[in-house]
Amino acid sequence: MAYRCQVKTWHPDRFAHDPQRQSQGQKRMQEINAAYSLLKTVAPVSPHNRVFDGKWDDLYSIGVSGIDDQHKSFFKMLNNFNTDVVFSSIKTTDDKDMMKIYLYVLNLRRYALNHFLSEEEYMVKYNYPNIFEHRKKHDNFIKRIFALEENYYNFNKLSPDNINDFISSWLADHIIRMDKDFGQYLKDQIDSLFMV
Ligand SMILES: [Fe+2]
Ligand SMILES: [Fe+2]
Repeated sequence: MAYRCQVKTWHPDRFAHDPQRQSQGQKRMQEINAAYSLLKTVAPVSPHNRVFDGKWDDLYSIGVSGIDDQHKSFFKMLNNFNTDVVFSSIKTTDDKDMMKIYLYVLNLRRYALNHFLSEEEYMVKYNYPNIFEHRKKHDNFIKRIFALEENYYNFNKLSPDNINDFISSWLADHIIRMDKDFGQYLKDQIDSLFMV
């Protein structure tokens, strides 16, 4: 779905009368195709679920160093989660193991709150036109983290598979699609400031 949206937005044919935007579209299409090939290489952990391998690749870069650094720390967090939870002998019936997973969820919330605020600060400063659409997605991620936390509080349960699905959709639907669009806008704004 995210892939189709991106193709629709950036297909070079849309910019037939604007050579500059057309070459920008060609570049974005190459990046989008390469990013989706990478996502397809995730290692299956069960027939119903896949886990992201957690390796940073410059294809995920949105071209704004401060934000890229935060995204890199997100990848680091995913790697730790994979090592300590997904590929370990953790038991969802063990209270101590559950608490260990919950600490990752807390960390995820801390990261998300700080990171989303940083992005939104840039958006305000540079008058990003899609700020509300983008912010709604951020709010949804926070709600999903709260839902995971409620499971822990109410049932002492957290599913590593659910957390993984959540993280993969964050990556595929958000960083590759929405954050990249926002990064491109920011780069265009900064370039136009230097052209004056
Ligand atoms: Fe982001
Ligand atoms: Fe974002």
